[in-house]
Amino acid sequence: SIPVPSVKELVAQPLAAVPEQYLRDVAGDCPTGDPSLLQVPVIDMTKLLSPMFHELEVQKLHDACKHWGIFQLIGHEVYDESVKSMHNKSQEFFNMSPDEKKLYAQQPGSLEGYGQAFVISEDQKLEWCDMIFLKSIPAHTRKLQFWPKQQPHNFREALDTYSNNMRKIAVSIIGFIAMALGLDAKRFSEAFEGGSYDVRMNCYPPCPEPKRVIGISSHADISAITLLTDCGDIPGLQVLKNGQWVFVEPIANGVVVNIGIIMEVVSNGIYKAPYHRASVNREKDRFSIVTFCYPDTKFEVKPAEQLINSDSTALYKSLTYDEYTQSFYDRVKLSDDGIPFID
Ligand code: SIN
Ligand code: FE2
Repeated sequence: SIPVPSVKELVAQPLAAVPEQYLRDVAGDCPTGDPSLLQVPVIDMTKLLSPMFHELEVQKLHDACKHWGIFQLIGHEVYDESVKSMHNKSQEFFNMSPDEKKLYAQQPGSLEGYGQAFVISEDQKLEWCDMIFLKSIPAHTRKLQFWPKQQPHNFREALDTYSNNMRKIAVSIIGFIAMALGLDAKRFSEAFEGGSYDVRMNCYPPCPEPKRVIGISSHADISAITLLTDCGDIPGLQVLKNGQWVFVEPIANGVVVNIGIIMEVVSNGIYKAPYHRASVNREKDRFSIVTFCYPDTKFEVKPAEQLINSDSTALYKSLTYDEYTQSFYDRVKLSDDGIPFID
């Protein structure tokens, strides 16, 4: 990747105008939906686990995955404290000096470390977001040279705990998602027990022109599922629903779950990996932490056999896990208006 200025350093000086490279043409953009009419579904893990409410909540989960591809999960067993502590470490990290952060900077050709996503050309559009991207589980995939060491204090412990907690949530929710599709819940939970978990921490500084700038461009995730936590109540994440951008409002102790392309393929398109993006605001820094969840490497990325019958043929080709993940980075392209996307 090509080194770009950190957005945080950009706004640290008085900013006369937002540099051209961040400004988007919004003429063809979709409208923002009325939040009182369109609300992202909320799924309660305690109901999924309760004999009395189980059936109804699985049906709700199915509808959420089918019609939205994204939902808020509440009632999960991960303590708010461990999530808060990771958010504190992440904010401390982004608030460190440029020189301290540069110790963990991305290397050319790789997304890991501190920097920006998918900078592949000098003249592409840039995103109003600083990030640090780290592979965390399995532990042998960790590239510790990118893991902040002395400062922030205990960052590594916090990330270890946080990613293991996100794995717990992924293992249980993927079982219920499989169940909602009529598939073997246990097989899915096992595949995610041994799966991989990549964590991306985002910092979106306040932006003087929030309507013409984007934090993360519209995309669908290549993961199986993605788990996102916000801290505080600053909305930013938006999902495309019926041609409108709908805000995913942060809720207390909620984890946002979205379907990624792997589960879209497994479901043979019954569930869709939704387009989503991060918007920015004029007033405050927003921080989010995103965990991309993948099954173990034995998992084949293909429509589940139980979902293929005389009425529905396979709509996606079958790939091994390695074929699926390796093809990804080669497929990042630039659109005519200079915005990177995955072909
Ligand atoms: C994304 O996961 O693509 C958006 C992240 C965010 O809402 O901060
Ligand atoms: Fe995403």
